[in-house]
Formats: sequence, structure tokens, C-alpha cells
Amino acid sequence: MQVKSVLITGTTSGVGRGLLEHYVDRGVKVIAVNRRRVAELEDRHPAVRFECVDVRSAPDVEALIQRMAAAGELPDVFILNAGINRLDNDETFDLPLYREVLDTNLYGVLNFIGPLTQLPPSHVERHIVAISSVVSQAGNPHGLGYQTSKKALTTCFDVWSQMYAGTDLVFKQVILGPVPTSIYTMSERLPGWVMWMKGLASASLADTVRAIAGFAETRRKTLVHPWRALAVFGAVRVARRVIPGFLQGRRTLQGHPRRPPTTRL
Ligand SMILES: NC(=O)c1ccc[n+]([C@@H]2O[C@H](COP(=O)([O-])OP(=O)(O)OC[C@H]3O[C@@H](n4cnc5c(N)ncnc54)[C@H](OP(=O)(O)O)[C@@H]3O)[C@@H](O)[C@H]2O)c1
Repeated sequence: MQVKSVLITGTTSGVGRGLLEHYVDRGVKVIAVNRRRVAELEDRHPAVRFECVDVRSAPDVEALIQRMAAAGELPDVFILNAGINRLDNDETFDLPLYREVLDTNLYGVLNFIGPLTQLPPSHVERHIVAISSVVSQAGNPHGLGYQTSKKALTTCFDVWSQMYAGTDLVFKQVILGPVPTSIYTMSERLPGWVMWMKGLASASLADTVRAIAGFAETRRKTLVHPWRALAVFGAVRVARRVIPGFLQGRRTLQGHPRRPPTTRL
């Protein structure tokens, strides 16, 4: 498939910004959905249509889709990329922070799916791409919302890619390994050897953008990028089964030591 128009969420930085620049360079029409206006980005890319929408707002996302549908401007590809990571399970479990991560990473994607699946069937194929993560294998226990939001996203897209197979809606997902962006570097508070291990599994931003854009043109359901990330994170998952406590919430226990109970049930 030759992509003629694409909607990308979260283009102010990182992967989203890289994708925006990739498509602009190739003359593809871009609709960039950001929660804030960034003058430097908008001045640099006058051909891009910037929509100021917070993906957490279901009514605003629905209104955007209905506006585009009414004007016959629905893009061929939706790359639902916006996401955040927070240390919501650090010293203690922080429910509001956890909820913010799920509102953005999970519902910020699902807010698009409701209205898109309710559109009348079309003869034009539309590809809907979620950006999931290898944390669906094993993740940082201090960022619990991140891990659970990406696992849920992966499950939803697995189901929809089968349910909608052969229709005008093509559901696909990227299982992404670490990429040096703000989401990656926020983990610097992790022990050095964990960062070393993440480094082993990581891919450059330029490679990642090329891989996602190439994948968007195919009818494949899943892209794992890079493959070695799946191997590294899979190994961590296995290690957690074998070595109790391996990379699991140590700081939480240090911050608030819990003692063995004096009486047991
Ligand atoms: N980097 C990695 O290691 C990695 C690995 C696996 C998966 N991913 C996934 O890749 C995607 C892109 O992340 P990134 O690494 O490029 O991080 P990033 O540089 O922090 O970019 C995140 C983007 O999402 C936007 N965003 C956040 N909340 C939003 C909201 N409520 N509404 C609209 N936009 C919002 C941000 O906008 P603001 O500037 O306004 O905050 C920013 O443009 C995320 O889904 C992430 O989970 C990243």
C-alpha cells in the first residue's frame, strides 16, 4: 500500500516527531494530533495539519474523527503513538498517577477505536497502528501503569486484528523495544546494569521510524522491533520466574520496609 495520508498522535517529540518528519519528507499528507501547540514544530512544517486534542478526551477525539469523516478527510493510516511513562509504583502505589498512564496509553488509543469502528463501512482500507512495547514481556516494576497499559493494548489489538480481518479496518501493532527518547531516559533512576541491559535491546530513533513507516504500508499484524529486545526482555521474564525478586520492586520495599507478620492465618 502506498500511504497518501496519515494521522499521528503525539508528534511533539520522540517517535511521533520522527514519523512526522519522515512522512513530510516523502510528500505524505500528515495530520498531527498533539495536546499542546509547539510553535517551532508548526512553523517548521507548514504543510502539516496540526490538531490540538488531548487523546484522553473521548468527546474531543470523537469530534475530530466525525469532522474528518464529514469532510472526506479520513487518512489511510492512523498511528496512535502518544504515550507516557510514570513511576507510579515507586515508594508506594500511586493510584492517580497509574490512572493517568492508563488514560493516556490505553484509553488514549481506545478513544479512537470506538468512533472508527462505528463509521459506515468504506471501500477504502484504513490501517490502525498501535505502539505497544516489549514491556508486555517484562517491565520496570516502578512503572506499573506503563506495563499494564501496553499489555492491555496488545491484547485488544490481537483481538481486533482477527475480528476485523478481511474488512476495511486493518488493526496492527508495533512491539517496540527501547528507543532513546524521553520515555527511555526517565528510567535513568534504575540501577546501572539495568540501563546496560536496556542498551543491549535498544534501537536508534531513525531505524525505528523507518521500520514503523515500512510496516504501516503492509498488511502484517505485528512488527517486533528490534528482535533482540524481545530476546532480552523475554530472558528477564524467565529470570523472574527462576530468581524470586529479580528486578521486582526492590526500591518499594526499601522505601517502606514491611516486616514478616507476627501471626499467620
Ligand atoms: N522510547 C521507548 O523506549 C519506547 C519503547 C516502547 C514503546 N514506546 C512507545 O512509543 C510511543 C512514543 O513514545 P516516545 O518514546 O516517542 O516518547 P516521547 O518522546 O515522550 O513522546 C510522547 C508523545 O506523546 C505525547 N502525549 C503524551 N500524552 C498525550 C496526550 N494526553 N495527548 C496527546 N499527546 C500526548 C507527548 O506530548 P507532550 O510533548 O505534550 O508531552 C509526546 O508528543 C509511546 O506510546 C511509547 O509508549 C516507546
